[in-house]
Amino acid sequence: MLRHYNSLIFFIFIASTSCKEQKQSHANEQEFEPISISFQNERAEYEPIKPIHFIDSDPNKVALGKLLFHDNSITKNGKSSCASCHNLKKGGADYTAISKGVDTTDGVLNTPSVYNAVFNFRQFWDGQASDLTEAVHDTVSLTKNAGISWTKAIWVINHDGQYTEMFQHLYNGDISKKTITDAIVGYEKTLVTPSRFDRFLLGDEEAISKQERKGYQLFKEYGCGSCHQGVNIGGNMYQKLGIVRDYFKDHDTIKKVDWGRFNITQKQSDKFSFKVPSLRNVSLTAPYLHNGEVQTLKQAIQVMAVYQIGRNIPDNEINDIEAFLQSLTGEELEKHNQ
Ligand code: HEC
Ligand code: HEC
Repeated sequence: MLRHYNSLIFFIFIASTSCKEQKQSHANEQEFEPISISFQNERAEYEPIKPIHFIDSDPNKVALGKLLFHDNSITKNGKSSCASCHNLKKGGADYTAISKGVDTTDGVLNTPSVYNAVFNFRQFWDGQASDLTEAVHDTVSLTKNAGISWTKAIWVINHDGQYTEMFQHLYNGDISKKTITDAIVGYEKTLVTPSRFDRFLLGDEEAISKQERKGYQLFKEYGCGSCHQGVNIGGNMYQKLGIVRDYFKDHDTIKKVDWGRFNITQKQSDKFSFKVPSLRNVSLTAPYLHNGEVQTLKQAIQVMAVYQIGRNIPDNEINDIEAFLQSLTGEELEKHNQ
């Protein structure tokens, strides 16, 4: 399976590279020779959603990062870890609207999934972190309230035989903020979840049901794909929540976090803008939106219809779109839970 995805993606890569590639040395051309561009690759090219691909990561780093990601002993209260909020058995998030921080302060935002986060153009709802490395630093810092303390983490790791051996092997014994982050990011890069829908994109017509196909058609016709697009079906642009109808006018209270991207740029035009969330595994990550106020996937689609599209989508079509969104759930999620 793994190899299957990789090679197909590789084909697409080759098919979509420009003439620049062709001018390259003949040694390369020989490797590419047996590849023919088939119908299945064409589909992947013209659809708004692109098939997912695996990302290489050093297996030793992955093993170390996985331990750290799940380790309660490196947090201040010794009771939680990254996995407490980003539970890999719960779609890489948790089932609460707003995850409580491990300190006394409460959190303010709904936890996004860590699955496939590597494909986001920026991290966090407001795009504050530029990549996974910054996301770890920001998560650990007080404002994000993960409760992980670098001092404690480094102390714990220094006093643990298995950890010191792994750090010795990978980082010449350097146990620091930099290397701890590097290992966690190395692990996060592997939290990639190919779905039945990816197989469909790659040409397997039977991979999704008739209803799911209809749902996808509607998703495109209603223009959902203009915002939720690319490899992560989101995660590649900011958009205003309430672009067609004022979402916050229908709310009694507006909090600072609701200003979204504005909090970073101070530009009025960024007010209420958020990174468009990925829809991969979305059926597992209720409740929805940055404030976690929408309970079900159906309601989330209805909210989108009203505030992002300005249309009233009939119930039967909402069901079809929901079915399509369910086909975006990773097929081998359990392998990340072991
Ligand atoms: C207390 C719950 C909690 C803990 C613990 C936690 N996170 Fe998060 N995580 C969040 C919330 C909430 C956000 C969204 C924050 C925002 O947008 O400002 C987030 C965002 C992220 C993102 C960005 C995802 C995206 O789509 O933008 C990544 C990556 C991430 N966390 C990784 C981690 C890692 C690694 C750890 C452990 C070092 C960790 N988190 C610990 C709650 C938590
Ligand atoms: C104009 C851009 C835009 C369009 C069009 C759009 N969305 Fe969204 N979508 C967003 C943004 C931005 C958010 C996050 C808003 C927030 O949390 O404040 C979002 C959130 C969602 C969520 C919740 C995800 C989560 O993890 O919380 C779902 C589900 C969703 N959209 C599905 C759809 C569907 C289905 C359509 C078409 C009917 C659609 N969207 C159309 C921008 C858009």
